[in-house]
Amino acid sequence: MFPADTRQHAPRRADGLHRFSRSGVENVTKKLFIKTYGCQMNVYDSERMADVLAPLGYGLTDNADGADMVILNTCHIREKAAEKVYSDLGRIRPLQENRAEDGGRMIVAVAGCVAQAEGEEILSRAPYVDMVFGPQTYHRLPEMVSKAMRAAGEKVLDTDFPVEDKFDHLPEERGDSDAVTAFLTIQEGCDKFCTFCVVPYTRGAEFSRPAAAILEEARRLTRAGVREITLLGQNVNAYHGEGADGVEWGLGRLCRALADIEGLERIRYTTSHPRDVDDDLIAAHRDVEQLMPYLHLPVQSGSDRILAAMNRKHTADHYRRIVEKLRDARPDLALSSDFIIGFPGESDKDFAETIRLVTDIGYAGAFSFKYSERPGTPAAAADEQVDDAVKSERLTALQQLLESQQAAFNASLIGTAVPVLMEKPGRQPDQLVGRSPYLQPVHIAVPESRHEALTGQIVSCRIDRLAGHSLFGEMVETGAAPYDISSKERISA
Ligand code: SAH
Ligand code: SF4
Ligand code: F3S
Repeated sequence: MFPADTRQHAPRRADGLHRFSRSGVENVTKKLFIKTYGCQMNVYDSERMADVLAPLGYGLTDNADGADMVILNTCHIREKAAEKVYSDLGRIRPLQENRAEDGGRMIVAVAGCVAQAEGEEILSRAPYVDMVFGPQTYHRLPEMVSKAMRAAGEKVLDTDFPVEDKFDHLPEERGDSDAVTAFLTIQEGCDKFCTFCVVPYTRGAEFSRPAAAILEEARRLTRAGVREITLLGQNVNAYHGEGADGVEWGLGRLCRALADIEGLERIRYTTSHPRDVDDDLIAAHRDVEQLMPYLHLPVQSGSDRILAAMNRKHTADHYRRIVEKLRDARPDLALSSDFIIGFPGESDKDFAETIRLVTDIGYAGAFSFKYSERPGTPAAAADEQVDDAVKSERLTALQQLLESQQAAFNASLIGTAVPVLMEKPGRQPDQLVGRSPYLQPVHIAVPESRHEALTGQIVSCRIDRLAGHSLFGEMVETGAAPYDISSKERISA
């Protein structure tokens, strides 16, 4: 999961409105601005909110100014992410007032995990907010909107964990399905209760969608041109949905079934938990060619004492063994992880264990955060909070190590040919940007006349140089040695 950055949903039309032509909705009369914070699940949810609102005439715009509805789809994972919502609301308020002065109306809504956790508080801190709803109720948006429209001043607060399954009430067609890559939520919620984490409270109990519904959504996406699907779940490898054959399926079985879909070239999943990596999933990494050899497997800490206090339910050696098995199954597998630094009670010795684990594993990428006290979680009540200066010092040391590992990994690709899924035009006119199997952005020199034909194709590209975390190279038309990072086989440059 890539936490706490933000993303605005850009429209795909020059006039700033996206018509949702795939769902047959052409009567766009109102402008919808959505800002998304937090993890990929929120990105998926924002897209689905747009789908739910499309039949009411809402089309996406990239500017909150002048919008008929503004939705902030929020994240509660760390204090900074949660507080950002209030500062953004402060910026939206004058836009709402301008709209009212012009005789219009802007509905302001707060959705997502902050809405779930602080629903009432949002309405009292920002009384100009019209609607507050959690991650499990946005299929009810049409009712919420009509309630909010009936009378200005009537507030909508819907932070239920409803008995009905929202996925059964979302539109089948997806407005975003003209992209090359897509997210697909297969599992939601979490029963793990790590002592630092708000997710079990904001997303609720673990729930797996039936395989048939997932396969159908994947088929629809693939028919529309999607070539890569990232399966999403807060704890995605805890997936245990009803299988297409009536028997319960795990994630490995689901990946095999997805791999049979014609045109689906790449499968990824995130975020997985070390405790739920079972033998079948490991075998899927060996057998399923479409399953990409890049796995986000957060470990959080390398100290057994801290892992136990976090309630992660595994040790550092357990993690090492899982990684070993995965690498045996798929020798070209690269890993990324999340780390929390300065969890209550973390000593220099505990931190040294984290550094040792990182050195042992060798990551191709990682996210690391200072521990943030979250209201209502057990760790927030712990006595031994770590001093902020100590957290900063440790975080810098860890990030330097992770950064050097990532740089070395990226550099190891120079001179090799990697398969790149071409996604979109680059910044330069004669350039396409795609992704490697390891999710690195790859910028390829391609004449503009060939852009359309190559978008959505997987093309073998020779990597010539790096800039930051991006790779640059050229297409290899014929005769390239197959890309193989495990044996570090090179093609001649
Ligand atoms: N389900 C995933 C993580 C979801 S939250 C897992 O089990 O690994 C995404 C990341 O945010 C976590 O991996 C963790 O590193 C970080 N995080 C969660 N709560 C945090 C907190 N209270 N302070 C700092 N980082 C936190
Ligand atoms: Fe949070 Fe732990 Fe669940 Fe991940 S597994 S979402 S860190 S409680
Ligand atoms: Fe944030 Fe909620 Fe995702 S707290 S990380 S948006 S599950």
